Amino acid sequence: MQDANAIDRIVKKLSSARSVTVLTGAGVSAASGVPTFRGKDGRWKSYRAESLATPEAFAENPQLVWEWYQWRRQLIANCEPKKAHEVLASWSRRFDDFTLITQNVDGLHERAGTGNVIRFHGSIWEVRCWSGCRDAPDRWLNEIIPFPEVPPHCPYCGGLLRPGVVWFGEGIDPEILERSFVAVTCDVFLAIGTSSRVHPAASLSNAAKAAGATTVEINLEPTPVSSQLNLSLEGAAETILEQIDQGLSKPNAFGKGI
Ligand code: OAD
Repeated sequence: MQDANAIDRIVKKLSSARSVTVLTGAGVSAASGVPTFRGKDGRWKSYRAESLATPEAFAENPQLVWEWYQWRRQLIANCEPKKAHEVLASWSRRFDDFTLITQNVDGLHERAGTGNVIRFHGSIWEVRCWSGCRDAPDRWLNEIIPFPEVPPHCPYCGGLLRPGVVWFGEGIDPEILERSFVAVTCDVFLAIGTSSRVHPAASLSNAAKAAGATTVEINLEPTPVSSQLNLSLEGAAETILEQIDQGLSKPNAFGKGI
């Protein structure tokens, strides 16, 4: 059970907040059964995500990289949004100005019905032409599992398709980056279930603090930003978010409802 005082402080802040921005990472989907990247279940075969999720790895062995993505797509297709996703989806309706920036490519926030989701690292359910051929759109939805052939081919030019996700060493879409850095100007900013090791996503928490937000972290363990934020709660996202949500739902808990 989390320190009741800390929960009360967050409930109080949220009770008077108009704008709330949440940054999520793999820990939010852990309860759904999606493996995190840096946890003990983060390897596929003997490979670490960092060695497969790069343009170099794809150029060298597209078959291997696609086999990994096929495995993840299959796994995620069998996962359901859980409590943490549900609470955040309800907050997207509760607050006037709510933004959810997710590093997760699994689509579980959208499936939970969350409004105003910014997919910082793209979507595992989208594909792009690897060579960026002229006829293909920038990216498009493709939920076929399994592909009839691996690696799959671009229907426009016959070249290779690649997953519609951001890989290590690749830049974030400038529009996504701009919307995210605009959203850090808010009353309350929460970083939930992210190791805060991958930039620029990891920079958003400190940017929010610099912009005057009350910054809160929820994670099973300390991260590089824990000591820099206003409040750091150690525990499972699904449990802590439920406690906060129950506090918010108490009538006039702090003299001001949302
Ligand atoms: P990580 O795997 O790096 O970190 C997951 C974090 O979630 C860890 O800090 C865990 O302690 C925490 N965690 C696990 N279960 C939790 C739970 N039930 N409740 C709360 N916290 C929990 O995942 P990300 O931070 O999302 O990027 O990784 C960031 C990026 O690195 C990913 O988007 C991906 C990855 O490689 C790209 O693919 C570009």
